[in-house]
Amino acid sequence: MGARSTSAGVVVLVLLVAAFPGYRAVEAGRRDERAAERRAAETVVGRQLYAANCAECHGDSGEGMDNAPALNSKQFFASANEKLVHHIVEGGVPGTEMPAWWNEFGGPLTDEQIRAIVTYVLMWVKNAPDRPDWRAPGS
Ligand code: HEC
Repeated sequence: MGARSTSAGVVVLVLLVAAFPGYRAVEAGRRDERAAERRAAETVVGRQLYAANCAECHGDSGEGMDNAPALNSKQFFASANEKLVHHIVEGGVPGTEMPAWWNEFGGPLTDEQIRAIVTYVLMWVKNAPDRPDWRAPGS
């Protein structure tokens, strides 16, 4: 190895080091983009799954029915986060009409499908109306 190729190597190394923060920023941007794409895809699937499985009791847009609480409610979302909603949907509410949905608990849905439904339901958070009586929407 001559002095020339050594200094060429040094130049390449310096360029790589200099470019690294830029590369990291681009990578982070791509990661955010992928996360947003995944959320968008989940929302589409989640909307279909919600319509097929949940709307008959909780209403087409989560407004609730005589026999089931509203989900699209500022007050409900104030008391529930993503983890809790996922948990309730997985296991249901024993002793009520709300069944377990996760196939590990005898329900019809996979964990991925539940995640999609929860992502969809949580999209309502941003514009959720005031519904202090969300647990008794029919009364
Ligand atoms: C057969 C009717 C029925 C169906 C179908 C149903 N639910 Fe429910 N759900 C209920 C009832 C009733 C409750 C209230 C249980 C209780 O008394 O705590 C409930 C409670 C909930 C809660 C907790 C609400 C709160 O205020 O504590 C969530 C979240 C929920 N359901 C999500 C879903 C999702 C998502 C689906 C579709 C995968 C679904 N439910 C399908 C009847 C239903």
